[in-house]
Amino acid sequence: MANQSIPEKFIYGGDYNPEQWLDYPDILDRDIELMKKARINAVTLGVFSWSVLEPEEGEFHFEWLEEIVERLYENGIRTILATPSGARPRWLAEKYPEVLRVNQNRGRNLYGDRHNHCYTSPVYREKVWTINQKLAETFKDHPAVIMWHISNEYGGDCHCPLCQEAFRKWLESRYQNIDALNHAWWTAFWSHTYNSFLQVESPSPIGDDGLHGLNLDWMRFVTAQTTDFMCHEIQALRETGACQPVTANFMEDFTGLDYYEMAKHLDIVSWDSYPMWHRREYIQTAYKTGMQHDLMRSLKQKPFLMMESCPSGVNWQDVSSLKKPGILTNSCLHAIAHGANSAQFFQIRQSRGGFEKFHGAVIDHYGKEDTRVFREVAETGKILESLAKITNSRVEASVAVLCDMESRWAMENARGPRNKGLFYHDAVLKSYQAFRKSGLNVDVINVEQPLERYKVIAVPMLYMFRAGIEEKLEDFVKNGGTLVMTYWSGIVDETDLCYLGGTPHGLMDVLGLRSQEIDGLADGEVNHLLPAGENVLHLKDSYVCSHLCDLVQLRGARALMTYGDNFYKGYPALTVHEYGKGLAYYICADAENRFYDDLYQAIITRQHIHPILDAIPEGIEVSSRNGETCEYVFIQNFTNAPIPVAIPDGAKILAGDYAGTVQGYSTVIFQR
Ligand code: GAL
Repeated sequence: MANQSIPEKFIYGGDYNPEQWLDYPDILDRDIELMKKARINAVTLGVFSWSVLEPEEGEFHFEWLEEIVERLYENGIRTILATPSGARPRWLAEKYPEVLRVNQNRGRNLYGDRHNHCYTSPVYREKVWTINQKLAETFKDHPAVIMWHISNEYGGDCHCPLCQEAFRKWLESRYQNIDALNHAWWTAFWSHTYNSFLQVESPSPIGDDGLHGLNLDWMRFVTAQTTDFMCHEIQALRETGACQPVTANFMEDFTGLDYYEMAKHLDIVSWDSYPMWHRREYIQTAYKTGMQHDLMRSLKQKPFLMMESCPSGVNWQDVSSLKKPGILTNSCLHAIAHGANSAQFFQIRQSRGGFEKFHGAVIDHYGKEDTRVFREVAETGKILESLAKITNSRVEASVAVLCDMESRWAMENARGPRNKGLFYHDAVLKSYQAFRKSGLNVDVINVEQPLERYKVIAVPMLYMFRAGIEEKLEDFVKNGGTLVMTYWSGIVDETDLCYLGGTPHGLMDVLGLRSQEIDGLADGEVNHLLPAGENVLHLKDSYVCSHLCDLVQLRGARALMTYGDNFYKGYPALTVHEYGKGLAYYICADAENRFYDDLYQAIITRQHIHPILDAIPEGIEVSSRNGETCEYVFIQNFTNAPIPVAIPDGAKILAGDYAGTVQGYSTVIFQR
């Protein structure tokens, strides 16, 4: 049983790689002193240490790790200990080539890089099991070790014979007989009928890559197999009696795995946050990154960790710009505002050689504290320490955006109205940021999660209905909820077969309409949404839309806006339908951001949902965490100029300079 206690202070630290510095004892000493000055209270050790921990097969050297864990602990710094499976030693690949990945073209990779291993290989599983157990036996009772960090950024797939066999077995247990698979994948199309499971091969550009059911099930299998491997890693630890919580670090908008599925097996979700702050307006990046924080929090409806972030410039972008002064602090507090219980960096000390030698770090090659970055890290550490009392607070949201990975896989794989991009992530972000601009905390959930706790649910482009989502949404509306669904929803079932009898499947009565046809618009081509008739939301502007336009037939719903151009000029473009005690809106086209902002603001006003702050100026983000007796409100300025923001009388400032304004790139936190 995992010990899941939430730390009494925010975890502050990051990845530290002392194995690269074992010949430099003075550096290790100095690092500890510097970490203390920066108020770092935890480091992640061992992420890529396998070749130092086990330099030859069966020859283990843990003394250096024990020593550093101990010394850090003596200095008040705890350890998050990683299992080293993210990169294997050379000897392992040389002796057991089966551990190396096979690509889609069926070629086996050479040794090299990282994350280059087969999750099915019994040899790889055995070697990982052994080293994980040895680590757990050594550290399970060490008070310094507060958590296990399982592997690193799981991802990728392998097409080796072992994986093919595992895929066939997985399919057999899913479909039981080949006729069921043939029906689900609609294999009579192009004469692709299978006679037996033995004929199934994973998708490949030199074989089948256009069979949507196969592609979808392969993605599901890859998640299942990766999850199984992760559980195998966790089991190795647990069997020794290690009971610290386990986490695995996820990535931003990563579509290779279904994180909702993986998160079920973790005690704590964590993710690595590398926003490109300089690429667009900072507030835009704050919304995009905030959505990812909220998704990570929603995976388990629990506080999460920001396991990695860069203190300065990364080294892997085309142009790696520095973080401007204030952004480091603001982005750490941004994670906390959205429900994280940590702010961690990659990396504490910059490596001297290798691929990441110019990646930003808390301690750079100069090695001292009088650097701009170190000063801001230390300043942030001080702020986080002062916030210790709010660690047990949590984010609560009354609205949610539904974002489902299986549906996304199916939709983006299908050949349909727009093969040049459907802009799913953007569609989710448009609803999300409209909620945020209205001053609300937002959950980002998938179709399996409960809906009852929300007042409004946005459902953008939910192409696939599965897990009874149509019934859940019907109940939600019937019981008084507000649903906002968009075009290209409820098109296929969970095996990717198109619904017969009209779409959005199962919700035509709830929405009061039927989608008849969908028009794909070329790049640069637009249509317009114009206010129509008696508009209960008082939307008076017209808006541009692009990419996709759904042509619906009303069956009880009212049109609030209509199309302005093309042969479907005058057709409904935004509709509303009263159903049971609730309301169901339908957005027919991919409208510009401004439309979403106005629409959600009007819906929130109409539903009397209270924002965290009444007036939120442009460039400001507000979030809140609820404690037992009070609420902590974060006001974050993501522009470089001071912005006036009104806060309630009697509010107690916990952090930041506030004199009617919030300074550029800074945060004010108050309690009420
Ligand atoms: C992460 C990875 C780290 C480091 C970092 C650099 O994706 O987990 O090990 O490579 O990127 O930004």
